Amino acid sequence: MFFSLPHPQAIADYVTTRLIQLIQKKPNAVLGLATGSTMEPIYEQFCRQVAKQDVNVSELTTFNLDEYIGLGADHPQSYHYYMRQYLFNRLAFAQHRTFLPDGLCGDLQEQCERYSRLILEAGGIDLQLLGIGSNGHIGFNEPGTPFASRTHVVALSEQTRIDNGRFFDSMDEVPTQAITLGLQDIFEAKEIVLVATGTNKAQIMADLYHSPVDEAMPASIVKAHPHAMIIVDEAAAALLP
Ligand code: F6R
Repeated sequence: MFFSLPHPQAIADYVTTRLIQLIQKKPNAVLGLATGSTMEPIYEQFCRQVAKQDVNVSELTTFNLDEYIGLGADHPQSYHYYMRQYLFNRLAFAQHRTFLPDGLCGDLQEQCERYSRLILEAGGIDLQLLGIGSNGHIGFNEPGTPFASRTHVVALSEQTRIDNGRFFDSMDEVPTQAITLGLQDIFEAKEIVLVATGTNKAQIMADLYHSPVDEAMPASIVKAHPHAMIIVDEAAAALLP
């Protein structure tokens, strides 16, 4: 389940090949997408290859994992903005089938229920891409989140706010809450690809490797999935046995 490739570009090549294989087999596939630094080279490579191989992405449906509460789609640190910048504005996605939680929504509870339901109505996620936080979170499911969780509102942990603070001008601007897909929603994906790159992920990847499947380590749910891959680069693999 764990395997290592030399560097982020090799991972981007690998994941892009897998995504394109899936899309060619199932043009109307449902993709579960993540944001963050880990995904940037993957989306770069995906855009390059889709253009080069003339892959049709217009029938895809996508669901992003999460969004900050309080940031509108045009805020440069919002995940809406990120997705447009790295993917949606660059390829011929059908914009009305690219879903993200709405960080400015008034009725958060209703929205959470609707988001999980929309995924089921779309037939479920065929392939879920995941990064991992330095505390083992996936999406914004922080340690202790029930494995049975559906889309919900979370208070971001101090560690996550500090990690993500690098993208904001000051810590005061880092949101304190987010909406995230739940661990049950993620687990129901037919296939999961979790990626970790860089030395700052080495410790959590060693912890994940040794961890039982336990809510104290949210990413450990991936280890219980029948069709999951955990891909690390050499830097993130440094503390693996
Ligand atoms: C983002 C997300 C997060 C990130 C994780 C790693 O949509 O769901 O779980 O994948 O925080 O972020 P990076 O890749 O920036 O280290």
